[in-house]
Amino acid sequence: MLAGNGSDELLAMIFRATLGRGDTVAYPVPTYSLYDTLAAIQEARVLKFPVGRDFAVPLDALARARARLTIVCNPNSPSGTLTPAAKLDELARRLRGRLLVIDEAYADFADENALSLVRRHANVAVVRSLSKSFSLAGMRLGLCFAHPPVIAELLKVKDSYNLSRIALAAGAAALDDAEWMRRNVERVRRTREATEARLRKMGFEVPPSQANFVLARIAGRDMGPIARGLRRAGILVRYFPTPLLRDALRISIGTPSEMAALFRTLKPLVSAQDKPRKARR
Ligand SMILES: Cc1ncc(COP(=O)(O)O)c(C=O)c1O
Repeated sequence: MLAGNGSDELLAMIFRATLGRGDTVAYPVPTYSLYDTLAAIQEARVLKFPVGRDFAVPLDALARARARLTIVCNPNSPSGTLTPAAKLDELARRLRGRLLVIDEAYADFADENALSLVRRHANVAVVRSLSKSFSLAGMRLGLCFAHPPVIAELLKVKDSYNLSRIALAAGAAALDDAEWMRRNVERVRRTREATEARLRKMGFEVPPSQANFVLARIAGRDMGPIARGLRRAGILVRYFPTPLLRDALRISIGTPSEMAALFRTLKPLVSAQDKPRKARR
């Protein structure tokens, strides 16, 4: 196991340790946008595999690509959808020794995780974050679980003093109090369920989320004006102005009263868009 300055640092170390110019890295899209940046820094060749309907990860295509590095964000961002660990087990086997990284930044909010695959496969690394379920984003702490030869390669590219003593002490105390994290997660999961149900009632399509956010979509409708309307009211959601995602908003799960404020603002914005615009004079 290796600790990093947030899981972003661990992901950067993984890309730096495994990829040189022209080497292949494969991942499903859409996913966490940092992978594009890290691949560009390494001048790696990116093999992107679009997710299917319902955001299903194209496991067969990833297995057949046999890239030098394959990365699956699970639960995925921005969809929140989960690939079952049994399927990732199969993918790890089919990659026959090529490294499979499972980015589990949101795994604590999910029904299951793939940590046990590290024991079963020498080519699997699981990356976790204390920024989400432990609410320690500002402390910058991530963990990478992998077999010693993988960790040894990461150590070669690690900064000598990548973690402060304060962060290490906070991380150790947080892990000792996993009960606090589980209560936090339970609250988020309950609010997530209620949020999904309410959004669906309003006409949004919401893939079942296993993370601490939901993706709410109305097919074909640009969500830009709605995102801007929410921002004017002081409510920040993620809007991705890309062909694949511009009809969706990624909404973080907050407290019940924060979600109530969201719905108060969101409802009129959605129905205002429903009405045909008056012709301009
Ligand atoms: C999928 C995913 N992985 C990793 C990270 C990085 O988290 P951190 O560096 O704070 O641990 C994020 C943060 O948003 C994320 O969404």
